[in-house]
Amino acid sequence: MTKSIATILELLFTFVISNEATSITKKHYIVYMGEHSYPDSNSVISSNHDLLASVTGCSIHQAKEATVHHYSKSFRGFSAILTAEQAQQLRETESIISVFESKINQLHTTHSWDFLGVDDVPQSNANTESKSDVIVGVIDSGVWPESESFNDNGLGPIPKRFKGKCVAGDQFTVENCNRKIIGARFYSKGFEQAAGPLESQEETNFRSARDSRIPSARLSIYKTCWGGCTDADNLAAFDDAISDGTVFFDDPISIGSFHAFKRGILVSTSAGNTGVATTKTAPWLLTVAASSIDREFSSNVHLGNSEILKENFINPLKMDTFHRVIFARDAAAAGVSSVNASLCNNGTLDHKLIKGKIVVCSGTGTDEVEVVRDGGGVGMILSVDPLIGLNDYSLQYAIPTTVLDTKELQALQSYVTGSKNPTARISPTTTILKATRAPKMAVFSSVGPNTVTPDIIKHDITAPGVRILAAWSPVSIKSTGGRSVDYNFNSGTSMACPHASAIAAMIKSHLPSWSPSAIKSAIMTTANAMDNTKRPILESPTDTPASPFNYGSGHVNPTAALDPGLVYEFGSNDIMNFLCGTRANATQIQMLTGTKITCKNPLIPTYNLNYPSIGVASMNGNVSVIRTVTYYGRGSATFRAFSQNPSGVKVAVTPNVLRFKKTGEKKSFRVRFMPSKTSNGSYVFGSLSWRSGLYQVRSPIALNVVSV
Ligand SMILES: *[C@@H]1O[C@H](CO)[C@@H](O)[C@H](O)[C@H]1NC(C)=O
Ligand SMILES: *[C@@H]1O[C@H](CO)[C@@H](O)[C@H](O)[C@H]1NC(C)=O
Ligand SMILES: *[C@@H]1O[C@H](CO)[C@@H](O)[C@H](O)[C@H]1NC(C)=O
Ligand SMILES: *[C@@H]1O[C@H](CO)[C@@H](O)[C@H](O)[C@H]1NC(C)=O
Ligand SMILES: *[C@@H]1O[C@H](CO)[C@@H](O)[C@H](O)[C@H]1NC(C)=O
Repeated sequence: MTKSIATILELLFTFVISNEATSITKKHYIVYMGEHSYPDSNSVISSNHDLLASVTGCSIHQAKEATVHHYSKSFRGFSAILTAEQAQQLRETESIISVFESKINQLHTTHSWDFLGVDDVPQSNANTESKSDVIVGVIDSGVWPESESFNDNGLGPIPKRFKGKCVAGDQFTVENCNRKIIGARFYSKGFEQAAGPLESQEETNFRSARDSRIPSARLSIYKTCWGGCTDADNLAAFDDAISDGTVFFDDPISIGSFHAFKRGILVSTSAGNTGVATTKTAPWLLTVAASSIDREFSSNVHLGNSEILKENFINPLKMDTFHRVIFARDAAAAGVSSVNASLCNNGTLDHKLIKGKIVVCSGTGTDEVEVVRDGGGVGMILSVDPLIGLNDYSLQYAIPTTVLDTKELQALQSYVTGSKNPTARISPTTTILKATRAPKMAVFSSVGPNTVTPDIIKHDITAPGVRILAAWSPVSIKSTGGRSVDYNFNSGTSMACPHASAIAAMIKSHLPSWSPSAIKSAIMTTANAMDNTKRPILESPTDTPASPFNYGSGHVNPTAALDPGLVYEFGSNDIMNFLCGTRANATQIQMLTGTKITCKNPLIPTYNLNYPSIGVASMNGNVSVIRTVTYYGRGSATFRAFSQNPSGVKVAVTPNVLRFKKTGEKKSFRVRFMPSKTSNGSYVFGSLSWRSGLYQVRSPIALNVVSV
């Protein structure tokens, strides 16, 4: 029992509990104590010091020295530099829920809105007052406040309920906040503890909310990401953000997001860019995957023989004349094998041979281009393994560069081999819209199944995250070929997440009374599982059909999400029943949630959380799943159930017709799954849709049939 809550907390909250044996090395730990009833921050801080001193036997003075952050506003806890032994002592203390090491998280790092059809959103409906009252909290790498993206034209006074601050710092004054950027804070203690002082880092860092790297509601900026973002700093940002009165965040952690959910704040998070299982699995998070849009960037190679090799790459640089082409393997420096030279690593090329030429290199990195440029090369053609997926590649280089796939490369090769004076010109990129089948799931986007609470399908949705134009910090020049730019293309689930957050903000502004789960349901049940050709969404680069473990309920559809017809709602009580269903220890759930709770007997199965999608991870024979929908349309309406059956499973919905007389009415139904064969260790997928004349309310189904 105890082990299962530990596992759940450990994994669900994406923190890692250190197993290391006792040692004198000190590390940065987060000590988490759940909700508190202290009257103010000061009383929390002094009792944190008392607790640390009494448990570890150190003096109050040492306790003060050891603590880094105090979490005192939205929940109680602190972070401190401790030995493994001290951490263990704290872990064994009753009032403490968990103690875990603060990890460094990697930064998950237009046309996308047209692609999403946002122009179709009826403006007449929009209540400008309430619309500008929505506050979006962004926990990321800060902001470049002068960017046009943050001008505050047309925005009224800052909402009174906002209690946040505009904190000045390095090249950031209170004047940098306006009616758009209404709050700005920064948190570097955790990062500096792990990686050393900001000033010692290789990249430029402003000791303020100003971003040296990268970001029509209000924004409150919480900068926690420097070279990375530590859990301790993220949690401090959450604690402040919730008490500041913000509404949505990016890139959060689950403890903070649970408290946010409880207070009516929806947290959307990028799913992660590892291409493997997602860690953002909590049901109160809206987990966002990344997919492409229908835009292509073509940067072609014109050959001396008039042939054109068509390529898809971002190259802003002009090349006015034709230049001689050489394969790097034919330009090896003395003593270097041609295979080694073909990679264009430093020191492998003969500068005399590449000077003034376009060099063809194998590989994908930014280092090659410097090697070619430093050796006098004027252009570069990269040959990239097609499995890496060119569509997801958005770096820019210091000299004209493009990428060729295997087929085009063969054409180039036979031209170079067959010609005495092979020449080429790399053309700058042109944009082609409606160019391609889209969305396709990005190769880097993480995938399910959810290994922590497998009855919840994750991700929840997908949104544009490949080559998205975003405001860019002009001092971040590493991936822009040394050029200072105000906007740049970027790929990643953290490009997708702002689209979802913005849609959530849009819904909140139209329907201010909606709960986080209703907003989440609206976004999920209106998402499309089909692409722009009305065929199933594919996975890049293999072009094989993707599954709900890639895209959740599908690709976001903002217009439909504003009027979903039916919603699946759940609140923090349902979350508690859900946590009970995972067989978590009731005492510990109570400490997390701050409310006294007795788990229902029998436990409610986790697949019965009123989630907008349906998953059963371990099905033995027939299983019935219960859901309740609330009608939010106008007038009366009749909905009929349609199911797309997972392979080998019959689906029966009772009742299969739902009649509503007025808005706000709730109706429950049962979905009975009757398997005729096992799914052999993997999942089978289907869907359930409630349709009326106006609406289609769709939930994906994922079942793992263990036995029949
Ligand atoms: C080629 O590279 C490998 C790996 O770096 C190295 O061990 C080898 O000595 C190199 N050979 C030549 C001829 O450059
Ligand atoms: C290549 O190596 C030289 C000599 O070690 C060094 O000065 C230069 O910066 C290196 N270039 C790149 C692109 O790493
Ligand atoms: C829950 O866990 C705590 C600490 O691990 C333990 O003291 C308590 O007895 C457990 N409670 C239940 C109801 O199992
Ligand atoms: C499962 O459902 C099928 C179809 O209704 C039925 O024939 C079968 O008896 C059920 N199995 C059990 C164990 O109830
Ligand atoms: C079941 O899975 C195993 C292991 O993946 C595979 O070898 C076998 O062919 C599968 N059987 C069926 C009937 O699909």
